[in-house]
Amino acid sequence: MFLTYQNLSHEDKNEIDQRFLHGKEMIKEAGKIALDYFNRRDELIIETKTDPQDVVSIADQNVEKIIRDLTRKKFPGDGYLGEEHGQEKGSNDYLWVIDPIDGTACFLTGMYAWCISVALMKGDNIVAGFVYDPNTDELFSALTGNGAHLNNQKIETQNINSVTQGVMGLGTSHRIPPSQLLPFLDNLLSAGGMFIRNGSCALMMSYVASGRLIGYYEPHINPWDCLAGIILIEEAGGWSSPFLENDGLNKGNPILSSARGVAEDLQKMTGLA
Ligand code: IPD
Ligand code: CA
Ligand code: CA
Repeated sequence: MFLTYQNLSHEDKNEIDQRFLHGKEMIKEAGKIALDYFNRRDELIIETKTDPQDVVSIADQNVEKIIRDLTRKKFPGDGYLGEEHGQEKGSNDYLWVIDPIDGTACFLTGMYAWCISVALMKGDNIVAGFVYDPNTDELFSALTGNGAHLNNQKIETQNINSVTQGVMGLGTSHRIPPSQLLPFLDNLLSAGGMFIRNGSCALMMSYVASGRLIGYYEPHINPWDCLAGIILIEEAGGWSSPFLENDGLNKGNPILSSARGVAEDLQKMTGLA
């Protein structure tokens, strides 16, 4: 799933580095605008998508537009795939995958578990990931072959060997039946594990990368929710299931990511490898 950074040409490295610098600045700009909407959330009109639990507002739509506009100015040939504005093909092989607000239900009800999540792909590979939490000013970033960082600090997944040693992040939605999630819960709790669901997949995956959580599982997730988290976790020394296989980019897939020491146990509990 990742290009070996060492094998990239000088030109490719340069192009990716430029986009990485842009991504870190651009997501903070977008974060200011999202935070302003959050502070005025009582004025927002809440719409629902096909599922009444799947909510959205003009904040999601405009933040995604700003991310695209800021990026288009610098890299006019790049393409986009976003939760709110869909796919826009570029003239080169760079693709920005955007969730303008991940944790929208929290955002609209005044809870703080939401963030902006952006991943950069080159061809079939995730080459950079950015997750920004404007409430705490925490920027999680990863660049292929160069590790993962929280602001300027290098981060690593937990050094553990049992699910009893920490807390697992969990997500679910009405895109799948409850029966796809419940056996995992039984397995985790029976093994002495514990879980939280804070409402933002991208934030929980960033917490796995930074060692706050031991892993993350969701039976169906979309690429804008998890691609940044995947590269963050892998660059922080962790493991992720092969999300992009079987057309994950267009259809979504299950995701299981974790610290390496508990990956095998979690693979058995979820049936994913
Ligand atoms: C949702 C969140 C949630 C996850 C759902 C996603 P949204 O994204 O990431 O944690 O469980 O599957 O749809 O709607 O807040 O952008
Ligand atoms: Ca999302
Ligand atoms: Ca969203």
